[in-house]
Amino acid sequence: MMTPAELLLRRYAAQGLVAEAGRIALDFFGRKESLGVTMKGAQDWLTVADGTVEDFLRARLAELFPGDTVIGEEGGGEASDAVWIIDPIDGTANFAHGDRNWCISVGFLVNREPTIGIVAAPALDELYVAQRGQGATLNGQKIAVSGIDDIRRAYVELGWSARMPAQLYLDVTSRGYAAGCSIKRSGSGTLGLCHVANARTDGYAELHINAWDVAAGMVIASEAGGWVSDFFAGDGISKGNPILCCTPALASQLSDITGIA
Ligand code: IPD
Repeated sequence: MMTPAELLLRRYAAQGLVAEAGRIALDFFGRKESLGVTMKGAQDWLTVADGTVEDFLRARLAELFPGDTVIGEEGGGEASDAVWIIDPIDGTANFAHGDRNWCISVGFLVNREPTIGIVAAPALDELYVAQRGQGATLNGQKIAVSGIDDIRRAYVELGWSARMPAQLYLDVTSRGYAAGCSIKRSGSGTLGLCHVANARTDGYAELHINAWDVAAGMVIASEAGGWVSDFFAGDGISKGNPILCCTPALASQLSDITGIA
């Protein structure tokens, strides 16, 4: 069991580390020739910044909290009752193309419960912070989901990756349009959840996503009043799962459209 003081210490430490990581990433972003872009697979982008930022966060977290474990997108890691889940750059394809919609994401889970979420989008000058039971903020201001309940007014992001058959995404997209939903894709699952939290959209769905893409954003969205599917059920932490996150009044309609409960 972690005390409130231990949690607060982790939240403030993570906030400082993510801000520093953001400066490192932003420096790479400003020097396109230094990005060293390679591909991990089909539409799966990697830059030198991903590894540099993850190494920085891992080293600092290990120094500060040696009893906690760390799972990162690039280096893997082990789950435990106190685990940090980090995505050094989420929205790497955007990052590699000079699009500002990317972020650094650090989530902390206690007994598999998403408990702290810190997300920095340095190229947008935005910092999201949330702790379970304490609300969510963007640049220090409290944020809340939209409250939209009419699917014909809903603005929803549908994330996509080559990990799932394209036809499944096409089916969800056509069911969404048939129901009257407006659908977009912006290329960062983490910011997709943050944008539900601050009512820039009304929902985010993806048929398969990894733990590092959602661990922090789930805390931010749920603390802003959002409904979030049980991503960490089963093997979610190691193998990923579907995710649906939305303003609560749209949950059952979006669940029907996406097939995500
Ligand atoms: C990807 C992004 C994308 C989502 C994919 C993720 P990456 O992460 O979050 O928006 O749809 O599922 O893999 O590769 O940019 O860290």
